[in-house]
Amino acid sequence: MIVCLCEAVSHRTIDDVVCDGAESVREIGRRCGAGTGCGMCKVDLKARLRAQQDRLAQDEPLLSK
Ligand code: FES
Repeated sequence: MIVCLCEAVSHRTIDDVVCDGAESVREIGRRCGAGTGCGMCKVDLKARLRAQQDRLAQDEPLLSK
């Protein structure tokens, strides 16, 4: 699913960028370009960032075993 139409960035790319350490919408933009055009997708990027961070936080204890 494309989240950022201006830069044609998919939800998978955004999830990968967050997994690689992006911690803000601005940082997502720096890494993959999402949100750097019209800005209409920034709300979706923020929601995706939070959801992915929550998921990663839940997975963290499993990864440390
Ligand atoms: S839709 Fe993402 S910057 Fe325009």
